[in-house]
Amino acid sequence: MSQIAASEEHRLTDAVVARIADAPDPRVRETLQALVRHLHAFVREVRPTEAEWATAIDFLTRTGQICDDRRQEFILLSDTLGVSMLVDEINYGRGGASTETTVLGPFYVANPPVCANGDDIGRGLAGEALFVEGVVRAAGGSSLANAIVDVWQSDDQGRYDLQFDDPDMFFLRGRFRTDAAGRFAFWSIMPKSYPIPTDGPAGSLLAAAGRHPFRPAHVHFRIEAAGHQPLVTHVFVAGDEYLTSDVVFGVKDSLIADFQRRTHTQPLAGPSIDRPHRYLRYDFVLADARAKAAAAG
Ligand code: BEZ
Ligand code: FE
Repeated sequence: MSQIAASEEHRLTDAVVARIADAPDPRVRETLQALVRHLHAFVREVRPTEAEWATAIDFLTRTGQICDDRRQEFILLSDTLGVSMLVDEINYGRGGASTETTVLGPFYVANPPVCANGDDIGRGLAGEALFVEGVVRAAGGSSLANAIVDVWQSDDQGRYDLQFDDPDMFFLRGRFRTDAAGRFAFWSIMPKSYPIPTDGPAGSLLAAAGRHPFRPAHVHFRIEAAGHQPLVTHVFVAGDEYLTSDVVFGVKDSLIADFQRRTHTQPLAGPSIDRPHRYLRYDFVLADARAKAAAAG
């Protein structure tokens, strides 16, 4: 390419950036200008033909068209391209006293069925019985009573309720409240590793990239308590074959736990369990809400 052509390409970028200079909100200005700079740099590097650019536009169009109340293809794209975990890393980082975070994913429901501690979210589904319990604490160690604990997971075939066509079908999800000692407990079934939905644009992109679509088996948690930052995370099943190649890059070592095989458990509260089951004990630590406010300046 001639020098004249190259400088004309940059002149175009500069013109668009300048056109945004008067955006009233400084954060909008900064964000849009960066978007234009990076998007133009991408196009200059890839040098798409017109047909290729039309394919890209069609891809994004189909991504929007497949979205509805139960399907969120943009989240899938963000997840599979590692952007969701990059945003997670930027906002929550590593280390610190609180439990590590990971992606929310597309299968969260904001107001899941309300459950009592000890309830079975599997509600008779086939699968290996799993008992889960733990304590929710503040970073200083004190237990947090009345925290909201939302849980959701796949069935023993690796499917979520939202993947079925029935809008009223909910299974393997629920909302618990911690008791006075910060404890929660529920019955479920062992989750299974599963392919994320591959029948849409995100799946086509994975196939084009030669990537597998699997996530290692896990249970999702979203925990909220007054005065604390909400925590979005999963607990992964130790030994799963996809722990090192999660399609959404969501695994952190501290979130991998042993789902023990047992015939006897004395839970933190309530009568003993004397039958074969898997057992997960996982305690969560929530960061103080003021820590985030202070970090934000
Ligand atoms: C999930 O774990 O539910 C999930 C996360 C990201 C993409 C697809 C599914
Ligand atoms: Fe999941």
